[in-house]
Amino acid sequence: MQQALSEMSPSAIIATGDLVHAGGAQVYRQFLSIIADTCDAPLLCLPGNHDFAPEMIEACLPMQSLNLGAWSVVGLDSHEDDVPKAQVDAAKRDALFSHWGEQTAQFGLLATHHPLLPIGAPWLDKDRIDDPESLMDELIAEGGPRFAGAIFGHAHQVIQGHYCHRPLLGTPSTAFQFLPRSKKFAIDERPPGYRWLTLGDDGQIRSQVRWLH
Ligand SMILES: [Fe+2]
Repeated sequence: MQQALSEMSPSAIIATGDLVHAGGAQVYRQFLSIIADTCDAPLLCLPGNHDFAPEMIEACLPMQSLNLGAWSVVGLDSHEDDVPKAQVDAAKRDALFSHWGEQTAQFGLLATHHPLLPIGAPWLDKDRIDDPESLMDELIAEGGPRFAGAIFGHAHQVIQGHYCHRPLLGTPSTAFQFLPRSKKFAIDERPPGYRWLTLGDDGQIRSQVRWLH
């Protein structure tokens, strides 16, 4: 947080899941207070496979959407408590489409925990969201904000993909990284990282990754 805030002042912070490894509502409250003590920007939290939704709700973590001028950032809950694989059933998809359609901003950024594309690491790729193309096709066709791209976590590495000319961006972990393109679990030597997003009035997303030094 200190390094990031020395670079720029964010309009919002998006935490893309696995906020804690274990610990209960008290640890989520601690997470919230660490953010609030260093920065007053609004926060959007997504639940990851290591998170427990009832405890996140008990700690009052903001988990729905962010309104940022011409942009809405809308969260998709891709997790099931303590299950590595993405769990996005019809009810979660419908909740996303309905929430997306209610947004009045011009552009929309989807934020979720699990990857929306294969990343070339089989042990992680088996966890990704099933049939993400149909989900994104529906967002493109949906009324409401124009679907302009997506961000996600889970992969513990930098991912830069595309779908229909929209960027799909995986952010590195703020803890340890996984070795890119590894066939099995392996830790990379890269330091903790984070990603800056600039959401332009033209609907373009510009982004850069920073590593802790
Ligand atoms: Fe994860």
